[in-house]
Amino acid sequence: MKFEFVTAPADTDVLAVLVRDERAFSAAAAALDSAAGGALAKAAAGGRFTGAAGTSLVVTAPAGVEAGTVVLVGAGAEALDDLGVEKAAATAYQAVKMSGAQTLTLDFSDFTAEQAARAAFAVRLAAYRFDRYRTTEKVDKKPSVNVVRVVTPDLRASEAAHDALSAVADGVIFARDLVSEPANILYPAEFARRVKAYESLGLRVEILGEAEMEALGMWTLLGVGQGSRRESQLAVIQWNGAAEGDQPIAFVGKGVCFDTGGISIKPAEGMEDMKWDMGGAAAVAGTMVALASRKAKVNAVGVLGLVENMPDGNAQRPGDVVTSMSGQTIEVINTDAEGRLVLADALWYTQQRFKPKFMIDLATLTGAMIVALGLDYAGIFSNSDEVSDAILEASKKVGENFWRMPIPDIYNPHIESKIADLKNMGNGRAGGSITAALFLQKFTNGVPWAHLDIAPTAWTNKSPSPTVPEGGVGFAVRTLDRMVADAYEG
Ligand code: BES
Ligand code: MN
Ligand code: ZN
Repeated sequence: MKFEFVTAPADTDVLAVLVRDERAFSAAAAALDSAAGGALAKAAAGGRFTGAAGTSLVVTAPAGVEAGTVVLVGAGAEALDDLGVEKAAATAYQAVKMSGAQTLTLDFSDFTAEQAARAAFAVRLAAYRFDRYRTTEKVDKKPSVNVVRVVTPDLRASEAAHDALSAVADGVIFARDLVSEPANILYPAEFARRVKAYESLGLRVEILGEAEMEALGMWTLLGVGQGSRRESQLAVIQWNGAAEGDQPIAFVGKGVCFDTGGISIKPAEGMEDMKWDMGGAAAVAGTMVALASRKAKVNAVGVLGLVENMPDGNAQRPGDVVTSMSGQTIEVINTDAEGRLVLADALWYTQQRFKPKFMIDLATLTGAMIVALGLDYAGIFSNSDEVSDAILEASKKVGENFWRMPIPDIYNPHIESKIADLKNMGNGRAGGSITAALFLQKFTNGVPWAHLDIAPTAWTNKSPSPTVPEGGVGFAVRTLDRMVADAYEG
């Protein structure tokens, strides 16, 4: 897809203009309507289209208009904020993407240059499609729009604003691709290689293999990968956009490239979903790409625990006791509660090596998170009001839903083992996401920390908004990028 900013619409198949609530035409829409002799207002008045946000009306072949098709895009009643612009632009794209039209022009001439840039960004996110493995799909079943132009009041200003947004879209799309890849293609070493390829942006990427992790004593992470033919990896990504020695912020991701459950094997039905059990690591990788790509003025670290959880003659058994890098011992009651074992060592390593201002881990950690919040919210567990408030505030601006959950000490006894320091699950199913978070907290060494359980939101089978197509979501990349931009860039 090609994106261009222009100062006037020309030579386009589709022209999209915005209409506010109660059929209040924007200046561009009103001008087009008078060129069409009132045909657009008539079309709107003749049906249910009122300009409500998220709605649109496609008007074909209006006389007096150069474009073959006009889309009236609802922009709602509220003052048009960032999310309102994104929704309108993405709605226009969704309305015509399959129509056969190749060029779509969005007229933002009577909006700001920043809003015009954001419109292009939104269409890029909306048009994402993971179709790498579709070899026989007919052309007329694929989206037809391949050139998107946005009319802006100020070309230069839109292009500049678009550069930063485009960096964020690069990060989201990288994360979506990683989440969508099947596990035969995306195993730990391949994941690490794909991250390493972004060193061209100025990221530093170190990849630790099993021998290096053994030397560090990362036995809880290694235990999870022990049954796999694929070597476990720890990817350590650094972006230094601030002064040298400036204390970094850190992101840590669960990268279980496939989670069979191990010896505590999962039922067959739905197991294919566990290819996206690396959604936390993908979000961290995507965030680091976004930060580097827009040259964020921050020092940031991303640590990815990359493993495959398989049953095997050499796999970890229920009842095994492993020693973590922190020295704490863990009785593995259920090999399917593997994410916390991976994160235990990754978190400990991160705080010990980097002494970060704070750590945020991301993980598709528990099915219980889906039971608690449904599929539209991810959970935040945190020992720091400052960190969790910054995440919540940023998330609202970018349209990703989080809900803060409690991590009360009273549940600590649930993860006490009779023979080791800890066990890797609670008693039964009660508070399953909370006991998982309490477990992780034991490996934070008191550093300000937030744990984001994105099991509900990393993948979607039903598009939750026009900028988020079904499949891998790239969830949390936008929130983390925005949090850094608004609260931690010097
Ligand atoms: N990766 C799963 C959690 C998950 C489930 C993510 C569904 C996304 C969708 C995790 O490793 C897991 O299996 N958790 C267990 C924990 C239990 C054994 C304590 C679970 O949620 O059942
Ligand atoms: Mn599991
Ligand atoms: Zn898992």
